[in-house]
Amino acid sequence: MEKPKTPLADVLEKSMAAADTLERKDLIFTYKGTVYPTTLCTPEVFKAMESFEARRDDVILAGFPKSGTNWFGQILSDLIATAAKNCKNETNHDGVPEEFPYLEVGDPEKYERMKKLPPRRLIRTHMAPQNLPESIFKNKAKILLLLRNPKDVATSYYHFSLVFSPFPSYESWDSFFKDFVAGKVPWGSYFNYLSEWNKYIDSEKVMPVSFEEVKENTYLGVKKIVEFFEFPLDEEEINAVVQRSSFQSMKKNSKDTHGTFGDVLFRKGAVSDWRNLFEEKHNLEMDKMYKEHLAATTLGARLKYDVYCKA
Ligand code: A3P
Repeated sequence: MEKPKTPLADVLEKSMAAADTLERKDLIFTYKGTVYPTTLCTPEVFKAMESFEARRDDVILAGFPKSGTNWFGQILSDLIATAAKNCKNETNHDGVPEEFPYLEVGDPEKYERMKKLPPRRLIRTHMAPQNLPESIFKNKAKILLLLRNPKDVATSYYHFSLVFSPFPSYESWDSFFKDFVAGKVPWGSYFNYLSEWNKYIDSEKVMPVSFEEVKENTYLGVKKIVEFFEFPLDEEEINAVVQRSSFQSMKKNSKDTHGTFGDVLFRKGAVSDWRNLFEEKHNLEMDKMYKEHLAATTLGARLKYDVYCKA
């Protein structure tokens, strides 16, 4: 018998089917100055989201699209599930319907349903902090802020745009690159996104972690996340989470977790694939943008631009 679809697979497959019926120009809309994909986000949902009440023990995963949010989402949901098994007094997660994990995607009623979700809720988002519901900061929920170097994000985003129908496709890498740098892709400007998050960098509730550091040493990266969220896990359990979150393992399970979306999501999962795409003019432009917007910031330093983006 076929397994029931996860909300993630279901919503994404419906969004892809809806996008196939739309013209390119209708795939995106602008809300409060930022571009969003029409078949995933709506102004009604953004309005309803204002009423969202965060909890102190919510686990928030924030990251610009293509920074590895599905990878870190797998790590966090596995940590939450393992921790729940370890805590005998933990609320039972059985029987409560799951929600599509991104805060800003779904229907306007999702925030009412989310009130019934047991702790700890995992909430992923691509939104810039100034557009998030205030209660996330007011109620002191902890936020894992995912970073990935801008050249790999742009490269991943370009390949994804060619195959994910809800995002406008491009005739050339050059034309995509122009829109990426200008912040005209879904969820807007990578540079504004990180500049805005940099304002929260001194908060003890926000912990940045980079795709590159976790790729280099996944055990250490996951341990850092465990300590930040205070999950009661031992070394063996952390190692099991690390194994289950490997690119190969996630790709192998992707039919069950992501449905047909898995076919377009799990591409290479590597660091520095930008070298296959960037020419001198792209390197110069990216260097300029980095210098103007991020070089002087704490988060900019955390990107290790000189290491990961050096031409
Ligand atoms: P590439 O396109 O460079 O391969 P997001 O989930 O935010 O959309 O990010 C997608 C990127 O994360 C893709 O990058 C994808 O391959 C990569 N990714 C997904 N799962 C991964 C994993 N377990 N390990 C490493 N990278 C992963």
